[in-house]
Amino acid sequence: FVPDAVLRITAENKTQSCLPSKSVVLVNGTSPGPELRLLEGRTYWIRVYNDMPDQNLTMHWHGLSQAVAPFSDGSPAASQWPIPPLHFFDYEVSPPVGRAGTYFYHSHVGFQAVSASGPLIVEDLVNPYPCDEEKIVFIQDVFTNNDTTIEQGLVSPLNWTWSGESSMILVNGEGGGTANGTFCNASLSTIDVEPGKTYRLRFIGATALTFSSLAIEGHESLQVVAADGSYTKPLNTSFLQLGSGQRYDVLLTTLAYPTKSQYYMQLESRERPTLTRGYAVLNYGPKPSFISPPVTPPLTLSNTSTTFLDYALTPLSFSDISDFPTADQVTRRVTIKVHQHLLSGLTKLIWLEDNYSWTPEVPAEPYLVSLYKNDGIEFPSMDRALANGGIDNKTGAFPAQIGEVVEIVLQNTGADSGGVDIHPWHAHGAAYYDIGSGNGTYDAAANEAKLKGTTPVKRDTTMLYRYTSGSVGNGTDAGWRAWRLRITEPGVWMVHCHILQHMLMGMQTVWVMGNETEVLGKVPKPEVEGYLAYGGNVNGNETHWPEV
Ligand code: C2O
Ligand code: CU
Repeated sequence: FVPDAVLRITAENKTQSCLPSKSVVLVNGTSPGPELRLLEGRTYWIRVYNDMPDQNLTMHWHGLSQAVAPFSDGSPAASQWPIPPLHFFDYEVSPPVGRAGTYFYHSHVGFQAVSASGPLIVEDLVNPYPCDEEKIVFIQDVFTNNDTTIEQGLVSPLNWTWSGESSMILVNGEGGGTANGTFCNASLSTIDVEPGKTYRLRFIGATALTFSSLAIEGHESLQVVAADGSYTKPLNTSFLQLGSGQRYDVLLTTLAYPTKSQYYMQLESRERPTLTRGYAVLNYGPKPSFISPPVTPPLTLSNTSTTFLDYALTPLSFSDISDFPTADQVTRRVTIKVHQHLLSGLTKLIWLEDNYSWTPEVPAEPYLVSLYKNDGIEFPSMDRALANGGIDNKTGAFPAQIGEVVEIVLQNTGADSGGVDIHPWHAHGAAYYDIGSGNGTYDAAANEAKLKGTTPVKRDTTMLYRYTSGSVGNGTDAGWRAWRLRITEPGVWMVHCHILQHMLMGMQTVWVMGNETEVLGKVPKPEVEGYLAYGGNVNGNETHWPEV
């Protein structure tokens, strides 16, 4: 058995941007890790070695439906035991036909995904938007503390500690600029281009926390052609905004007669108490060895965050447009109220979804493993869930039946203390139709009227905004985001906020789609023993326990 790709994960001391050297989780020695290029409609085996001596690991293929291999989805709460130190796991990754596009992979354990991530491109058999060349724009943020310190702070009951704001926004691993009023003169990443050509820029929002607004100096026309792996009708815009987990593919025609060699791409954080401003460079000339960030920002970026691209993108989604379920096909609506709560007697802040919180310790065993072994949680009960607003309060899971058309409405209700945050909500398992967002409380009829004449885009990560800058939290409805999806893929899928801090504070849910037979039928029998030990299908007689 020869895997198609091998990823080796280590934790090494490393300097990023202007930060002093600290332990950083790397993929094949770098962050971001190597680019994986897969073809739609094929199956790949990717071997992931956990070379860290003291941390667990999983790898998740963000945005790809892992419907054919739910045990390979890489989420420790839902699909698999994490890979223990000095072991490996073989992941079966099968990008479905029709879902070519821009994705990424990342660890799903703790705060590791802040650095343990890399681009994953699913190539088209036929590219509807030919271009001269492609470039990846991989956006990350960095923090003063290392991932384990940040995780411990966020889950500590008595010494709850915020991670701090991001120290810089990085593009393809490099970046400098201004964070929290302090200027950082670190070398910028270059995106090398030639005049008068068309590039497909694949923007990947792989930040932990930062909602990035960005534009390119002297290049006001960006043409969006895909969002989260769905082709869209071309949309011209001068700027982009990406939350953690979101991707946009953009066609950029470079200047025929550039007047200088380097044009800045400027990135700024939005909706945070402090501003982080980072840069990369569109480079027409020979590659310089060091490019400093500008002291004075060349661009004034838009502040708009609550309407951007919500309805402007109408899908081409060549094969998928016909399967948009109409309002009368909706069988059930599940409203999830998200709220930040201070645990009484403790310093710990947690996020609640309908008064339920998933922490790194909950569940005690991954749901799919537990359901398979039939030793921990029982199979979630549809009756109990229906009587309880969608969540089965006994198992803590949201069950759904194959064939249902469900609307999931996320309702932002802020914090006990009064504030409201924004949240990039992400679904594993399948892309959903994004049917919009708005202020106050979701009103299905009003939204249906607004949807007329638009064709929603299939996304896997969309923003739950706040529609006010004031303090209106404290249980008040401060904005909603609504999705519509036809349940087709049996499996155990996480649906969660993609801000890593919020996930660690409990902002995640687990959905069990399909009945017992359908779900358990997805775990391959001959390899079950290995899967139950800590991982999935190893394709034959490979050992899960390599010599170390
Ligand atoms: Cu990138 Cu569970 O997500
Ligand atoms: Cu969040």
